[in-house]
Amino acid sequence: METLIPIINRLQEVFLTVGAEIIQLPQIVVVGSQSSGKSSVLESLVGRDFLPRGSGIVTRRPLVLQLVNVPPLEERRKHEHVLFFTFCLQGIKAEEWGTFLHCKNQVFIYSLMLTIRSFGISPEPIHLKIFSPNVLNLTLVDLPGITKVPVGDQPEDIETQVQEMILSFISNPNSLILCVSPANSDLATSDALKLAREVDPDGRRSLLVVSKLDLMDAGTDALEVLLGRVIPVRLGIIGVVNRSQHDLNTQKTVEDAARDEQAFLQRHYPSLASRCGSRYLARTLSRLLMHHIRDCLPELKTRVTVLSAQYQTRLSSYGQPVEDHSATLLQIVTKFASDYCNTIEGTARHIQTSELCGGARICY
Ligand code: GDP
Ligand code: NA
Ligand code: MG
Repeated sequence: METLIPIINRLQEVFLTVGAEIIQLPQIVVVGSQSSGKSSVLESLVGRDFLPRGSGIVTRRPLVLQLVNVPPLEERRKHEHVLFFTFCLQGIKAEEWGTFLHCKNQVFIYSLMLTIRSFGISPEPIHLKIFSPNVLNLTLVDLPGITKVPVGDQPEDIETQVQEMILSFISNPNSLILCVSPANSDLATSDALKLAREVDPDGRRSLLVVSKLDLMDAGTDALEVLLGRVIPVRLGIIGVVNRSQHDLNTQKTVEDAARDEQAFLQRHYPSLASRCGSRYLARTLSRLLMHHIRDCLPELKTRVTVLSAQYQTRLSSYGQPVEDHSATLLQIVTKFASDYCNTIEGTARHIQTSELCGGARICY
């Protein structure tokens, strides 16, 4: 997702200039049964250790994780006088940091996040913000797993409660649904897919991630599933190998995990290796986000045009000489369009600039 960061930042500038926040990137919501690997998948996407994971219900409340892109520390230091209020008031001079919404003044670093724990399942989300130069302005939602049988102090209707909670998040049309299903259980009974179908019957915003490819019984593989022959999934089916409990216990790094995952895929799924794995999942999500941004551009264009015209009118009514800054905006949007074409692989490579601008040239 790194390639997206500068592009989004530049576009965000345009939005600020025209006083709009039109690009609302879709929030990515992970759905799946308990211990299917949801938190692990999210972590490999962000490339950091910060979510509580493990056997049993570890995620008890929805975690709304808002990633906020900030300039690198070096850059921030240079502009300290300007950025003082936004960043330095947080008392932070770190490269990246996090805050909880419900404890505003508390700033902490990643290692401390592993202590996030709450008891009892609750639909009340925990809001966590991570500020870093290495993230996209993106919201990820980690949900408690779908459970069937209440354990311990859980209420009788735990299944309904959790389902309603999940539905409330994924029914938001701006949610991209990442269904996580372990390869060692039957896909046909996947609750994640079932729930996703309820709110997204055409499959326009659901992806299937098949986790635990490494845990399949000897002599079986997930080839048919990954090829979409068991259940087709419009946006794609991506197999991954996350870190095992042992890997977590022995503190295997994200980088080592990614390398081993790739080796596993090459060995067991050579024909699909280039279309599987955490990195490919991240690229796929980037592509979907790019498409979303592309779809927002015509609206941005209209907005710029309208505002520009309004200012022109107002300025000329004052009898002032009219200075037009809209050319700069046009440059940024056009630059985005060409970057877009360079960034995206495959079919998207052929998308023309004109298409990005809704088939018309932007003119003021
Ligand atoms: P969640 O409950 O769906 O959020 O699942 P977690 O991400 O917490 O993972 C549950 C357990 O399964 C943890 O012990 C993970 O280490 C393990 N796990 C997750 N994905 C995989 C995988 O692809 N392979 C293996 N071997 N273990 C995995
Ligand atoms: Na779990
Ligand atoms: Mg979890």
